[in-house]
Amino acid sequence: MRIVGAACYERHMSSSSGPYPIRTIQPPEVPAFHEVNHIGFNSAWPVEPEVERATRLLEVDRSLAAFDGPLMIGTTTTLPLRMTVPGASLPVAGVSDVSVLPSHRRRGVLSALMRTQLEELRAGGETVAALWASEAVIYGRFGYGPAARQLDFTAVRGEVRVRDDAPRDPALRVRIADPATARPEVAKVFDATLAERPGRFARGEALWELALLYDPPYRREGAAPLRCVIVEDESGPRGYALVSVHGTWTVENLPDGRLRVRDMAALDTAAYVAVWEQVLSWDLVSTVTIGHRPPDDPLLHLVTDPRRLRATSSDNLWVRLVDVPAAFAARRYAVPVDAVIEVDDPVCPWNAGRYRLRGGAAGAECSPTSAPADVRADAGALGAAYLGGTTLMSYGPTGRVTELRPGTLAPLSAGLRWSPEPCCPTIF
Ligand SMILES: CC(C)(COP(=O)(O)OP(=O)(O)OC[C@H]1O[C@@H](n2cnc3c(N)ncnc32)[C@H](O)[C@@H]1OP(=O)(O)O)[C@@H](O)C(=O)NCCC(=O)NCCS
Repeated sequence: MRIVGAACYERHMSSSSGPYPIRTIQPPEVPAFHEVNHIGFNSAWPVEPEVERATRLLEVDRSLAAFDGPLMIGTTTTLPLRMTVPGASLPVAGVSDVSVLPSHRRRGVLSALMRTQLEELRAGGETVAALWASEAVIYGRFGYGPAARQLDFTAVRGEVRVRDDAPRDPALRVRIADPATARPEVAKVFDATLAERPGRFARGEALWELALLYDPPYRREGAAPLRCVIVEDESGPRGYALVSVHGTWTVENLPDGRLRVRDMAALDTAAYVAVWEQVLSWDLVSTVTIGHRPPDDPLLHLVTDPRRLRATSSDNLWVRLVDVPAAFAARRYAVPVDAVIEVDDPVCPWNAGRYRLRGGAAGAECSPTSAPADVRADAGALGAAYLGGTTLMSYGPTGRVTELRPGTLAPLSAGLRWSPEPCCPTIF
């Protein structure tokens, strides 16, 4: 973790010449920081426990705020995450707590915060930033690109059945556990699946306790406490789901409960099937919902009627390459890549220039070059393509990616692709 000391604090104070100075916050300002977020996100939750929770997750010296005189009016922070990228994992700045008070919006406060944050990340030697966007219109202008997509499923009970020929293991048993007690088992399963898919990030104790398993009564909206479904055999846990059930009844006295799956993972397909069969057959429930599923979720091929999963699709993680050559050198490539990319990046001008990228399954290098460029791309398109989901080719018609030497865009785009598709299962 990078420590921003007093000198840096001074630098922020003096370098912010705009109407709303920006600087790293100090520990006594943490409650004000959360209050701006609370107001900004129209939160209905009680302030005190939420501030306490957020304070435990916050890294003060990675948190920036904008001020109008003495009043804090805008915020952002980054979580030091380790994220799976194609064929590797690397430290990623997880941008969070982005908020501007309603009284000060559309005056450029966010723009100034984003630019300062990117400069800070670069100064700290960080390579990649990633975030969840509350609205898809916000971050493209700062060079973030939509790098992953997700499916959200709503299964009506009785409509979705796992195929008879799906892998099953009679040795598997299901147990309902208290999530807090089961945390080591759940974490063990998740950790074993972490490297499988780009977009997943490692979860430390704090994230398990204060995000994944966080379940105070005021956040349940009438649902029963969070429960844990564990699928196991003699060797230990092989799959889990964290579920909350809101038990309701229709006027005709029919059960109409809603089961929401907050998180789910499995070590193998038989365990995955066992978790799903448990969840889909939960009594007194009429709908089962789960979000943040990858576009290539094997469930789509494991059920008899995938359309009945009633999937909706939306953007998932947005990625920003803070240091283009370092980012491209840090991941792996499905097929050999050798191309000169001209990067267009007015927000992070240190990235602008030409780089030769050579990579494959075993490693990659990416360094400045004076050779003529094969492909020109803007920072947002490169961020979008980084996790191997969004294709560079799909940006061709937009003019944001241009093939300068005929026949070079398709192989570069194919080299950046990755399977499985990227997807982040958790909002941060
Ligand atoms: C999103 C938010 C932080 C933007 O802050 P802001 O200070 O108003 O943003 P800026 O003034 O720097 O906007 C920069 C540009 O983005 C546009 N923009 C920013 N937020 C937008 C939004 N939500 N919808 C449409 N356009 C938006 C502005 O119109 C402006 O465009 P322009 O340069 O063409 O004039 C603020 O609206 C907010 O706090 N929203 C609620 C909380 C939230 O959604 N946070 C993001 C969490 S991921």
